[in-house]
Amino acid sequence: MSILYSEQEKVVTLHTASTTYQMKIDKYQRLLHLYYGVRIDDMDSSYYLQYSDRAFSGNIAEARYNRTYSLDVLPQEFPTYGMSDFRIPAIVVQYEDGSYALDLVYHSHKIYPGKYLLDGLPHTYEARDEVVDSLEIVLIDPVTKLEVTLLYSTFEKADVITRAVKVTNNGSQKVSLQKVMSASLDTMNREYDLIHFHGRHNMERQFERVRLSHQTAQFGSRRGTSSHQHNPFFILAEKETTESAGACFGMMLVYSGDFQATTELSQFETVRTQLGLGSEGFNYVLEASETFTAPEVLLSYSSKGLTTLTHQFHHLIRHHIVRGKYQYKRRPILVNNWEATYFDFDENKLLALADEAVDLGIEMLVMDDGWFGKRDNDQTSLGDWFVNQEKLPNGINHLVPQIHDKGLKFGIWFEPEMISEKSDLFKQHPEWHIHVPNRESVTSRHQYVSDLTRSDVRAYLYQVVSDILKKAPINYVKWDMNRSITNNYSLKLSPEEQGKFNYLYVKGLYELLERLTTDFPDVLFESCSGGGGRFDAGMLYYTPQIWTSDNTDAIERLTIQHGTSFGYPLSTQGAHVSAVPNHQTGRVTPLDTRAVVAYSGIFGYELDLTKLSIDEKEKIKEQTAFVKQHYDLLTNGTYYRLISPETQAGYVIWQLVSEERDESLLFIVKNKAQANTPFKMVRLKGLLEDNEYQVETYEKIITGRALMTQGLPIVETYRDYDATVLYIQKTTC
Ligand code: GLA
Repeated sequence: MSILYSEQEKVVTLHTASTTYQMKIDKYQRLLHLYYGVRIDDMDSSYYLQYSDRAFSGNIAEARYNRTYSLDVLPQEFPTYGMSDFRIPAIVVQYEDGSYALDLVYHSHKIYPGKYLLDGLPHTYEARDEVVDSLEIVLIDPVTKLEVTLLYSTFEKADVITRAVKVTNNGSQKVSLQKVMSASLDTMNREYDLIHFHGRHNMERQFERVRLSHQTAQFGSRRGTSSHQHNPFFILAEKETTESAGACFGMMLVYSGDFQATTELSQFETVRTQLGLGSEGFNYVLEASETFTAPEVLLSYSSKGLTTLTHQFHHLIRHHIVRGKYQYKRRPILVNNWEATYFDFDENKLLALADEAVDLGIEMLVMDDGWFGKRDNDQTSLGDWFVNQEKLPNGINHLVPQIHDKGLKFGIWFEPEMISEKSDLFKQHPEWHIHVPNRESVTSRHQYVSDLTRSDVRAYLYQVVSDILKKAPINYVKWDMNRSITNNYSLKLSPEEQGKFNYLYVKGLYELLERLTTDFPDVLFESCSGGGGRFDAGMLYYTPQIWTSDNTDAIERLTIQHGTSFGYPLSTQGAHVSAVPNHQTGRVTPLDTRAVVAYSGIFGYELDLTKLSIDEKEKIKEQTAFVKQHYDLLTNGTYYRLISPETQAGYVIWQLVSEERDESLLFIVKNKAQANTPFKMVRLKGLLEDNEYQVETYEKIITGRALMTQGLPIVETYRDYDATVLYIQKTTC
């Protein structure tokens, strides 16, 4: 068992292979957090707790005359509001009588083998030879009987602990939940830096590292999706921590809607870190006996730097979040017609693209936006998921077999969550779009969002999407979502229930995705939200890959893919080669460079194949052959960031190493040319020290030790944006 309880010490200890997490039920039955860090066996770490009289830090009733005991001073496992911990609470509730105080007292706990489950929410699951144990701790308010269950599971090999929270109303009054975090963690301040991933449309997940200060740091999303602007994943790293050394831990939310991440450096230099649902617009009224479930958080710690932390998250997502046929199966190299044609296509154009694709080694044609209703621009027809007769007069069931006959798979774009004002669906069901009665709604890209909290809307969407998927053997669906949610309200919910709306929308989406992915197990689903506006572990539970960004510029993709890599494996990131000048930036980069960057993701093309020169076609044939040859290494290799885009070195370099460490790929992209450049070396990682390796283009055989200590010289090239990928292979045992 990786979870232990000491009756004598009243200490609960959770172990993974290299980490330990510990908490204690104290003499007043309050649950204190003791420790999270490198594995410590057989040890009660409560020795470090200090009880001292601190002014303005009040004492709970049981400690009325003990001025050295205050919740405000001690590390809390799940802090509440109104009962003397004045730091940021993990939970805020209001009762029918208007009061807020919540006092969580230990009631019971259970430890069991296997993983806890979360109904209707995505969550990690047990698989392969991973040992998973679970713990549930029940805390109850003595006055109102409100019950909070803290759930934990240990993924021993992965060095990950998952957490979730359930709140049950055992009282007779209604309780409104105004804030429920999924995880709260109190630690001593080790001069932490916060590493988080901010951005915007076309520039998602930009790395930022800032020192924690006494100003509370908070970020999140109020957009209804996890968003382009912030990712529900962050790291706290000690000041000295680098890629390969030092302590750090990360938190990732398995959820795709509004979220909130907070770090607070307290008056006594302790740090509180929280992650959970966003609290604006959230007011979940619990009836008597009702239970609310907060989404799961993944928590991982590394004492060996950021790279190890990354590997732990990659492992968990690949083996315990992503599901279905394509979890391990090779994903087809696709060409998507969006940047090739935008809305201006018809059956003939698609067939012409397909003809070229086959010759180039591409394996799937994806028909993007514009195939339905009267959709010739982005102003109409969302919701009318019926074939556009002008573009596809013979229907999808005529098109798909022709594509299949050419030897290609076929994929299709949907934006099921949306409804255009100019659509038949809107005329028939104006009540289906999200809006507040008697208030003009905000449009975005001329569209509204459909109310997925409603079961009739979900039933309709299931019907239309599955009708299309049944009409022809479609192999792939791109599930898009191209606006943020406003006017948050559902006609089907009572006034009192409106505070559940944001959460129920996301649960409605999950229910729809669960049904469709279960009923169409052979279809590969890729999710998208204007690129990477909903790039999170919640979506990855249903769709094994996500379109990383609408920005296909190879140089900008370096920073986007770099930021994304900290939490998410390459097997989840869609990456395509597009035309130049690039449609988002106007930048011109060589075709080879665009491929070198797109190799580090689920590879594809997004350009007009009918306009390629002979030379370009030859190069593309080589690229598709390269991806097929190295697919396993490219998708499942261990990922190392060697020279990151923040360094201004003029190069960005990263590396993939096979599980057996007998093969590796080294990617070098010059993002800024310099005159008369100094000599530069790059140290490789992950190789076997005593083995010898043949590095492509280098004559000499070099040992792993030399490659990882002395390094490899970066061969100077003249221009901006040159790129190369070197294959490295072990020569001896
Ligand atoms: C979004 C997607 C694009 C494309 C368009 C179509 O922006 O991210 O890839 O599918 O929608 O409208």
